[in-house]
Amino acid sequence: MNNANNDRPGLLLVDDEDGFRTTIAKRLGKRGFAPIQASSGEECLDILGRKPVGVVVLDVKMPGISGIDTLKAIKQTYEKIQVILLTGNITVSDGIEGIKSGAFDYLTKPVELDHLVNKIKQAFEMIRLEEEQQKELEYRAKLEKKMIDTERLVSLGTMSTGIAHEINNPLAIINESAGFMKQVIIQPEMSRIPQKEALLLGIEKIEKSVKRARKITHQLLGHVKKQKSQISEVDLKALLGETLGLLEREVEEKNIQIKWKTDKKKKVLWSDPYQIRQILINLLSNAVHAVKNNGIITLSLLETDVDINLEIKDNGIGIPKKNLGKIFDPFFTTKPFDEGTGLGLFVVHKIISSLSGEVTVESTLGKGSSFMINLPKRLE
Ligand SMILES: Nc1ncnc2c1ncn2[C@@H]1O[C@H](COP(=O)(O)OP(=O)(O)OP(=O)(O)O)[C@@H](O)[C@H]1O
Ligand SMILES: [Mg+2]
Repeated sequence: MNNANNDRPGLLLVDDEDGFRTTIAKRLGKRGFAPIQASSGEECLDILGRKPVGVVVLDVKMPGISGIDTLKAIKQTYEKIQVILLTGNITVSDGIEGIKSGAFDYLTKPVELDHLVNKIKQAFEMIRLEEEQQKELEYRAKLEKKMIDTERLVSLGTMSTGIAHEINNPLAIINESAGFMKQVIIQPEMSRIPQKEALLLGIEKIEKSVKRARKITHQLLGHVKKQKSQISEVDLKALLGETLGLLEREVEEKNIQIKWKTDKKKKVLWSDPYQIRQILINLLSNAVHAVKNNGIITLSLLETDVDINLEIKDNGIGIPKKNLGKIFDPFFTTKPFDEGTGLGLFVVHKIISSLSGEVTVESTLGKGSSFMINLPKRLE
């Protein structure tokens, strides 16, 4: 860093008259400032590109780029820098133009040192205030976003039961009716109806959308079931095996290898089996989706006196860094419309928190992901 104030942005004094500049610099030095010096607009802009500067004291009348043009260039690139102009007696109009172009203030030469020192102090103070304001604004924006997020999650939670129930019935009716229409259309006597293919395509779209909507309601209903949760003994190893059974078809199709890393002992939790199963199915199905043919999914189970750690690790596509903060958000998905709802991990996170556990993730793009779950053996 460039000046006596350690890493605080410094002061830059720009004047083409060497004698005047060095004298002022020396006197400012005695008043606690250690200005960097430049003898032209060009040099000034060059220094600003290399060093942190907060305040520029800038002579208006200089050969080469004029002070005003230098000021404009500074303001264009370094919005936060405050510029104090030094104008000749006869060129007050320059000062006014300078203010219009964003100068903090202007002083006429010959300058009185106290006056200049005060202005410099005010300019630094202005920077500090603006920074504070900026921080305050950023803080507020963050807070607002957090509140919106929380509100969204809370309302999603409370609304989900009602809506999911209400939607399940009409969904069943839509699905049945679509199926019925399909049956009718494929009858031989219907072979000549106009636009038959388009009609069938339309019905397929209805069926696909119903499937997606169903997936959403199932996730949400599963997630809220906790209100009626039943705490009982959960044999985690057995439950993992059972859940894998549900994914058997995909595991076989992709020839996925499942590796177990655990000892012979049962891994028993006293928790809500229904919800634990939902966690497992969501995580395992993600892993199955993520791996290519012949992929490997490793399941590790470790226990201590008080908790159980489960790691579900895959050697699949991995998660880009920029997505890592979003994967637990509701409806965040990178999968096609008819494949993913983006609710899987959201529900996993909610359930695990409600069971006083923790879930963390590590992932490397192209190498694979690992979801680690910690659950207490006994839910208090
Ligand atoms: N094991 C994994 N490997 C790579 N990416 C993953 C893995 N698990 C989750 N993801 C990423 O996180 C996103 C969100 O996952 P989540 O389970 O919430 O929804 P989804 O799988 O897209 O949809 P759904 O669970 O409804 O099928 C996925 O779309 C994917 O991009
Ligand atoms: Mg999923």
